[in-house]
Amino acid sequence: MSAPPQTRRICTSIEIQMNTYRIAVIAGDGIGQEVIPAGIEIITAAAVQHGFRCEFTEFPWGSEFYLRTGRMLDTDAVDQLMKFDAIYLGAIGDPRVPDHVTARELILPLRQRLRQYVNLRPMRLLPGITSPLAGRTAADIDMVCVRENSEGEYCGIGGRLHSGTPDELAQQTGIFTRRGIERIARYGFALARTRPRKLVASATKSNALQHAMVMWDEVVAEVAAEFPDVTCRKYHVDAIAARMITHPQTLDVILASNLFGDILTDIGSAISGSLGVGPSGNINPDRTTPSMFEPIHGSAPDIAGQGVANPIAAIWAGAMMLDHLGERAAHDAILRAIERVIGDERVKTPDLGGRATTAEMTTAVRARLQPQAA
Ligand code: IPM
Ligand code: MG
Repeated sequence: MSAPPQTRRICTSIEIQMNTYRIAVIAGDGIGQEVIPAGIEIITAAAVQHGFRCEFTEFPWGSEFYLRTGRMLDTDAVDQLMKFDAIYLGAIGDPRVPDHVTARELILPLRQRLRQYVNLRPMRLLPGITSPLAGRTAADIDMVCVRENSEGEYCGIGGRLHSGTPDELAQQTGIFTRRGIERIARYGFALARTRPRKLVASATKSNALQHAMVMWDEVVAEVAAEFPDVTCRKYHVDAIAARMITHPQTLDVILASNLFGDILTDIGSAISGSLGVGPSGNINPDRTTPSMFEPIHGSAPDIAGQGVANPIAAIWAGAMMLDHLGERAAHDAILRAIERVIGDERVKTPDLGGRATTAEMTTAVRARLQPQAA
């Protein structure tokens, strides 16, 4: 039986008003192919509940593509991606392709060329997960790393000379700009201002790196002065690495350069109980280009294809993407669903000490997304 004309008209007008987001999907390698469909399932379910739509367009880029074409990305990949509102990335890495090829030809150029200068990484111990740090509970580990994502030690400038001879040399330059430090610091302080403890810990190494890191400290101190309500402390990166283990409860927002942030966020994920949980946003706060959201974990070739990868990091990254797109309520609903699944401890993938599959974990999150679920 067809609906009466009036009802149909009402539906049409609702559809026209509904926000639609165009999402580019690069599932990539290994378990990226398993966790990204899980994330899409949850994002789609949340979109239905919150009255918006996501249109997903898949790109085949990654290591298989490289083995076929000699390239990790299409030559015009950046132009293609510019047409999207956001990018949802799985994992990149394959034992058949050198790591510096997969990183330097896919993920790093996208971060740099799309001016995603913030790498935002929440590191929380969720209730229901056991930290490898004895006696630590969720109240002790709740930090977020604001990592500079476009320059610094990862700028890619350098070269090699006299390759394969005893005179061989390699140069790897770090580039730090006042503009680059200022904008990442401002983002970190503005974020700290929204958090209850309002603390920034700046990771430096100005005792040894007397040019770049002394300038880092100076610029961070200048930005700190704009945020008198936020407390800022600086720690040398080796000391903050130790502090994350010994006193994680004293850390809130961690502000770090590209390489320091990379290292500190692996510590943060590890003390949060599993690499399978932590998400990551590569964000251009100026919104002139699409931002890119990904799980922190890699492609995990050892478990790829078995259907047992933990989808939580990818689902959480998807929630961060929705938050960035302006769908805060959908983000919060997904986070609550994740917390409920982890908290009741019945469904756990092997990385969390259980036997659940990716599909079972995804179904559990989806079930708790229902408004009536407790
Ligand atoms: C990460 C990864 C990347 C990085 C690699 C793959 C280049 O470790 O996202 O943390 O170092 O940024
Ligand atoms: Mg890393």
